[in-house]
Amino acid sequence: MNSRKVLLLVASPRGAASTSKSLGEHLLAVLEERGMALKTLQLYPALGDERKMSELLGAVDLCDLLVLAFPLYVDQLPAPLIDLLRLVAERRNGQARTGQALAAIVNCGFPETAHCRPAADIVRLFSAQAGFRFLGCLATGMGGAIGNRPLGKAGAIVRHQRRALDRAAAFLCESREIPADVLALMGRAMMPRWFYNFVADRGWKKAAKKYGTANRLFDRHYDGRQET
Ligand SMILES: Cc1cc2nc3c(=O)[nH]c(=O)nc-3n(C[C@H](O)[C@H](O)[C@H](O)COP(=O)(O)O)c2cc1C
Repeated sequence: MNSRKVLLLVASPRGAASTSKSLGEHLLAVLEERGMALKTLQLYPALGDERKMSELLGAVDLCDLLVLAFPLYVDQLPAPLIDLLRLVAERRNGQARTGQALAAIVNCGFPETAHCRPAADIVRLFSAQAGFRFLGCLATGMGGAIGNRPLGKAGAIVRHQRRALDRAAAFLCESREIPADVLALMGRAMMPRWFYNFVADRGWKKAAKKYGTANRLFDRHYDGRQET
């Protein structure tokens, strides 16, 4: 029996309806099967709420494994997550609890997983500064294809991601680094890039129609011209 505690911190403004939560919860379910004790917290509801933030910081201090699940925003971590990591590092100020580990799950909306690389580096550097042993960052592109569906209901498109999370869990529960081939599996495309772009494009057009802006999709606000 593995009685180590894992804290999943979901750092997406979409909260319970996020791809970050779907990916994180899949990993958590496997860690639970392996005997780890679970806790999930959402970052956004804690913003501006002292009680919730203090609970969150306390949970970060107490866990054995911290899993950060977040979307890529403007090639980076979402700003509230950056603030939180800064706060955690400052609070520790060289006095981190020993034996804590950290892993991350990042998803992005572009088809290419490579966009997530700088975010993965930032999490790795944070881990070193705040005294966590970094076990790896599981990154995937095409996050929009998952939406808020549980991974088990997202069908064959997420087979690589499901398998990668399942395999990663075996390493995380033993506090071992996730091997490179598992990280690569997580980042494999869910479908051909042209198809993802085609569906995403249709989604944008549908949304524009809904909001009455379909004829403004080619506006160029900063060059003084407007195309019709
Ligand atoms: C403000 C904003 C900025 C974003 N920036 C990027 C980006 O730089 N690169 C990218 O690939 N996707 C970007 N995305 C898309 C999200 O990463 C993508 O929709 C992701 O699946 C959302 O995950 P979530 O449901 O966990 O929040 C951005 C989305 C928003 C709303």
